[in-house]
Amino acid sequence: MRIPEETVDRIRQATDILEVINDFVSLKKRGSNYIACCPFHNEKTPSFNVNPTRQIYKCFGCGKAGDAVRFVMDIENIGYGEALRYLAKKYGIEIEEQEQTPEDLLRQNERESLLIALNFAKTFFQEALLQSDEGKGIGLSYFRERGFSNPTIEAFDLGYSFDQWDALLQEGVRRGYSREMLEKAGLILIKEGGKVFDRFRGRVMFPIHNVSGRVIAFGARILKVDKSQPKYLNSPETAVYHKSQVLYGIYQAKQAIRQEDVCYLTEGYTDVISLHQAGIKNVVASSGTSLTTEQIRLIGRFTQHVTILYDGDAAGIKAALRGLDMVLEEGLNLRLLLLPNGEDPDSYVHKVGAEDFKAYIRTNSQDFIDFKAGQWLAEAGDNPLRRAEGISDVCASITKIPDPLKRQTLSQRVAQVFHVSEQSVISEINRLLRKQQDQSRKDSERQRQTRQSGTPAPEPSADDLNALFADAEIDSSESVNKSVWEPDERVKPVKTPISFQEEECIRLLINYGARELEPGITLCQYILSELHEVDFQTAPYNLILTLFREAYSRGEILTAGDFLNRPTADEVDFQHHTIHLTTPRYEISDGWLKHEIYVPSEEEISILADAAYRNILRIKKMLAEQRMADLQQQLRDLSSKSPEEADLLLTEFMHYKRIDVEISRLLGTVISG
Ligand code: CTP
Ligand code: MN
Repeated sequence: MRIPEETVDRIRQATDILEVINDFVSLKKRGSNYIACCPFHNEKTPSFNVNPTRQIYKCFGCGKAGDAVRFVMDIENIGYGEALRYLAKKYGIEIEEQEQTPEDLLRQNERESLLIALNFAKTFFQEALLQSDEGKGIGLSYFRERGFSNPTIEAFDLGYSFDQWDALLQEGVRRGYSREMLEKAGLILIKEGGKVFDRFRGRVMFPIHNVSGRVIAFGARILKVDKSQPKYLNSPETAVYHKSQVLYGIYQAKQAIRQEDVCYLTEGYTDVISLHQAGIKNVVASSGTSLTTEQIRLIGRFTQHVTILYDGDAAGIKAALRGLDMVLEEGLNLRLLLLPNGEDPDSYVHKVGAEDFKAYIRTNSQDFIDFKAGQWLAEAGDNPLRRAEGISDVCASITKIPDPLKRQTLSQRVAQVFHVSEQSVISEINRLLRKQQDQSRKDSERQRQTRQSGTPAPEPSADDLNALFADAEIDSSESVNKSVWEPDERVKPVKTPISFQEEECIRLLINYGARELEPGITLCQYILSELHEVDFQTAPYNLILTLFREAYSRGEILTAGDFLNRPTADEVDFQHHTIHLTTPRYEISDGWLKHEIYVPSEEEISILADAAYRNILRIKKMLAEQRMADLQQQLRDLSSKSPEEADLLLTEFMHYKRIDVEISRLLGTVISG
């Protein structure tokens, strides 16, 4: 259907970009703008900016930018019309749609069609639950038994699927949904003999919503006692449902998560629903899968604090321990709580009520150190060897934390809990960090060797770049910022295109590190967050970058003065580099022109910001190109690879190709000073 022009205008006028984006990430005020960690790419320091006056957003990291409609299109992966409908719904604007033209129909892509089919199914299951005799008699009375109220049933769109072979299929086809579409949505099964039937039959239905509230899948619980059937049946992976990226209840919980600034993580559908009904609404579940990194990142869009609430049985403890390191790795703060044995959050909140449940969380949740130590000390008792193992195990979790400052404060806690000296804890952490570093170095060394011995001799230029990139891989895979240099590279930096950009980056840092590109965002912060997992390939520049990082993690921004007095170390003559990089370039050499690094007047903040932005884009582009060259090399000899391997290589190649094209586009459109 077409949306009339004047309705489009009304939607646009009603829309406030801050409200729209706040539904997906928590924005923080910074000067006149708002910032957040970008929802479009993975980052730990915010480079996503929203300007409420101009009603636009822009990410300095990945370059995504636009207005509120664009944001909805990108984040939801939907078309223009769907995005307008989304906003109309949010702002209560009714759309009197015009007849749909054939082109409109074509434009509706598969994703959108699936979402529409899933929405139809949701309504069908809801009506079955609330209006049919079978639904009321079986489904609704089951929910009543579990203590779910009408508002709760409504808030979670709960439903019922008839105990028939094809009730949904028949109604769907009657309403014009094709079998193909229903199958792609995971709603029906088509067997080899041509038999077609509903996937969900005779079960209560738990729709799974995405962040913006659209139904993307279902979980379905059996009601009969039937040992041959699984208790829960879930939708398969589809074009709109990737279960590793979804958290059950996130749509209903996100507002409360932001308000309470903590997210409770449970295991089941009923845990989420019962706590929500009890007024504890900041709850989600990883339901049906063990926790994934993507799910943790999803939580990280709304809060930096997670509390894991799992069953107190062996399986619950195991799951909690597994989730623990993953949450830490994502830089989130973590507490854990085990429920009394035999209880899950659902049963326990019914037993003790909301107030006591909250009190139970307050008094019994532990940080990960106490949690792990508790597990170890209970078992180790006086056995010194087991205690040492315990300390090492807790330290291993600490090494997962990306922030070195946090690691340091926590080592004091470990020392207290285990009654050992802080120094011994610190050296254990360092030992583990070094071990991980060695391991990842060995891994990439092995990768590089297989790559080099398994492929014919490449052209020299590509080879050079590959070798350089392989070094970069070693560094970027480490959890600590320690540079690893080849001796020959240390003596005389190779002048590659990327070394020009690296030098330019260091020049910007040394000259303008503390300057604010946007209110609250210094050039140093911007560059370090952009280069979060990147190490430079030219040794001296990498050392300087590392020094900036170390200082920044202490809250300092280095200046030229800091380097001028710094003695030569690791063969890097800081004084020489600093003088070279801080002297204005009155004479522009060919090299600079060729690499487009001439910046006429950097006193202007907008020109400086543009220079930094372009420099970062170029570095990323070159890294992508190096990786592509490398992949191309591997793709040349396909005979030795399985189709799956080849497929993976090709997918990765396409991924970098897209990045490359996108950056070229961005570089082409940014106005240079
Ligand atoms: N689950 C699943 N398939 C199963 C069992 C469990 O997908 N065969 C998932 C469901 O998302 C479920 C969660 O794992 O919510 C936790 O399982 P469980 O504790 O057994 O279920 P509860 O949520 O406690 O459900 P109920 O109280 O109805 O038994
Ligand atoms: Mn339960």
